[in-house]
Parts: sequence; structure tokens; C-alpha cells
Amino acid sequence: MKKIQISPSILSADFSQLGKEIRKLEDAGADMIHVDVMDGHFVPNLTIGPPVIKALKKDSSIPFDVHLMISPVHKYIESYAKAGADVITIHPETTDNLENSINKIKELKKKVGVSLNPETKIEIIEKYLDKLDLILVMSVNPGFGGQKFMPQVLEKVEKLDKIRKKKELNFDIEIDGGIDFENSKLAIKSGANILVSGTTIFKSNNGDIKKNIDLLRSV
Ligand code: DX5
Ligand code: ZN
Repeated sequence: MKKIQISPSILSADFSQLGKEIRKLEDAGADMIHVDVMDGHFVPNLTIGPPVIKALKKDSSIPFDVHLMISPVHKYIESYAKAGADVITIHPETTDNLENSINKIKELKKKVGVSLNPETKIEIIEKYLDKLDLILVMSVNPGFGGQKFMPQVLEKVEKLDKIRKKKELNFDIEIDGGIDFENSKLAIKSGANILVSGTTIFKSNNGDIKKNIDLLRSV
């Protein structure tokens, strides 16, 4: 059974104090920092890019789990690797050659993830599963924090966990979007071992980040 990791999404953080917010997450026991990169084209929102990631990474000692919601993505992969991303996760719809983009991330010695939107089927990545470090299962349509969890994606998590066991693969299953203290247990039970959360971590229990991270991790 893989260790349950918590990767807080800074999309829900105070953007005027991102450095301070990241240090708070680290001190509260976050395993990684989930950085939502949005280009206003693949998703209807625009956030941060390589210069901000570079600046934030300087003061951080935990991995940056960078979720690229940008299209086209291939030509930008290197700039995120250089900025300090430790895990680079891309959406299959944003590259005209998924295998090339996966290989590019691996050549740059970064962990490679692929993200599946709620409507995207596992089949389109099945033949690459042995190359992947992580599959990011979206439980909302990407673009914004604070959306409602879509429970139908739990079936996809269960299917990925079955494949992982059957083929003796070691990829992480990360779930992202609308995660709270109830559905986190369902996600873990289905086979997810990394939970992304923004709103629940930053807004629950009067913003007690440590308490919220501990509650999410407790199965
Ligand atoms: C949505 C992002 C998610 C989101 C999670 O496009 O990929 O990481 O910020 O935020 P919450 O936990 O508030 O749904
Ligand atoms: Zn995300």
C-alpha cells in the first residue's frame, strides 16, 4: 500500500503572499506543492508561469508537483523543468504526440504525469502506463478551485489501481478537484495515493492548514 501524500494546490492560496503560503504548507507537513499552471486557452483561467515558479522554488525544500493546463504544451516543457518543477503533468489533449512529450519530460530527469479530465478515458494512455510516474485523475473540469467533486471518476481510480496491481506497475494515482474530508476517504479506498486539495486545506477549520492536511491524510 503506497503512503498517502498530500499535495496542496496553491490556486486557493493568497496570491499576494505565495512564498509565505508555501512555507506554511511545508511547515504543516505537505508532501508536495501542487502548482496549477493555466494559460487561459486550454482552460478559461490564467495563473502563473516559469518565472514565478523559479522564484518560489528558491525558498522551498519540497517537490513542486506542476500541473500544466496549457496547450500546446510540448514546446514549454523545458522551461518548467528549468524553473524547478519536480513532477510535470500534462493533459493528453495538449500535445500532438503524447509519447514524445512523455519522453521529453523523462529526458529532463523529471517525474512525468498525465492528467485525465472527467470525460477522458484511460484507454488513451493505457499503452504509456509503464512510462508514467503519476496519473492525475481530475474530479472536476479543470480551470478553477472550489468546484464540486464528481464522484463518477472514482470508477476510473479503481480501474487504474486494478491495472497497476495486475501489471505490477508503480505509478502514483493522484486525484484533483473538490477533495474534502469525506470524499478523500472514498478516493483513498478506490486506490488514490496522492490527494490534491486547495479549498479544503486553505478554507476549512478557520484555515488551520496543519489540521486540514492531517485530516485529509487520515484514512
Ligand atoms: C483545477 C485544479 C485543481 C484545483 C483544486 O483546475 O487543477 O488543482 O485547484 O482546488 P480545489 O481543491 O479547491 O478543488
Ligand atoms: Zn491541479
